Amino acid sequence: MKQFFSVHDITDLRSTIDQALRLKAHPYAHDTIGKHKTLGLLFFNPSLRTRLSSQKAAHNLGMDCLVINAGTESWKMEFRDGAVMNTDTVEHIKEGAAVLGEYCDIIGVRSFAGLTDRDQDECEEVLHSVQQYSGRPIISLESALRHPLQSLADCITIEEIRQKESVDKPKIVLTWAPHPKALPQAVPNSFAEWMNRSVEELGYDFVITHPPGYELSKEFSGTAQIIYNQHEALADADVIYVKNWSAYDPYGAILPEYNPPHVECPAEWTITLDKLTQTRNAKVLHFLPTRRNVEIADDVLDSPHATVIQEAGNRVFAMQTVLSTMLSAS
Ligand code: CP
Repeated sequence: MKQFFSVHDITDLRSTIDQALRLKAHPYAHDTIGKHKTLGLLFFNPSLRTRLSSQKAAHNLGMDCLVINAGTESWKMEFRDGAVMNTDTVEHIKEGAAVLGEYCDIIGVRSFAGLTDRDQDECEEVLHSVQQYSGRPIISLESALRHPLQSLADCITIEEIRQKESVDKPKIVLTWAPHPKALPQAVPNSFAEWMNRSVEELGYDFVITHPPGYELSKEFSGTAQIIYNQHEALADADVIYVKNWSAYDPYGAILPEYNPPHVECPAEWTITLDKLTQTRNAKVLHFLPTRRNVEIADDVLDSPHATVIQEAGNRVFAMQTVLSTMLSAS
């Protein structure tokens, strides 16, 4: 594996999840596979889980890990070809990424969508530039369009729920939730992409619910059933995946009638304990961080329904799975 940008970079979902569960059961079983190898983590945006779980995963495999926050801890990077760099950018990505390639065997990159120019976001310029100029295998730590490590961790968590609750074909519902800011579509895009693959390969049932106007790009929602009535969508759910996102069209917009501070919280689309009564004792997932009592109510997050900490813990084994696969191939 030379890149991990999306679900398209894995060949078999079942065996990838099984590999992650084996690593979770025996995290140090391959603690020399990364000896004398270095993972570099380049962050253009903040992180708690991705940064620390990646460092822990590298450590579990015997790898060294270098972390840098681009722009604040390093020089401000230029990406434009032919740029005359006489203003605020100091280092071109051509040199910056090439230097990282000298120090690191595998590089992880986080770069969020700007949400102002859809074409520019869809180019994934940062991810592709680091790949091109470093010459190293690249792992997306969340890009403009996707968050594949999070989605793999979500799949691991759903499999654990499925086994524990003895559910053969779980019903998974991705629900939009309110938020005061316009957020990228990367997490729901990616989750939908991985769930659509789970429908095909694992037989899951997958539904998306959101207010009209928050349709994801068809590239990601694919053949998923979209139900605009959240109450109807949540009926008989086994797993509820909660996430806010901004509109795809008009790109990056938020609809004030559904979002704080224009509405009182908990709001119509907030996940509350009441809403779980119509489910099959559903587990509630969120990639974190979450806005309490805006996206999800305290009475859910502080209840046994919430599976968000287990989900965050699984980020280690998602990363360990990807790193193991890359190291085995090198
Ligand atoms: N879930 C997630 O990616 O968290 P961080 O933004 O803290 O890395």
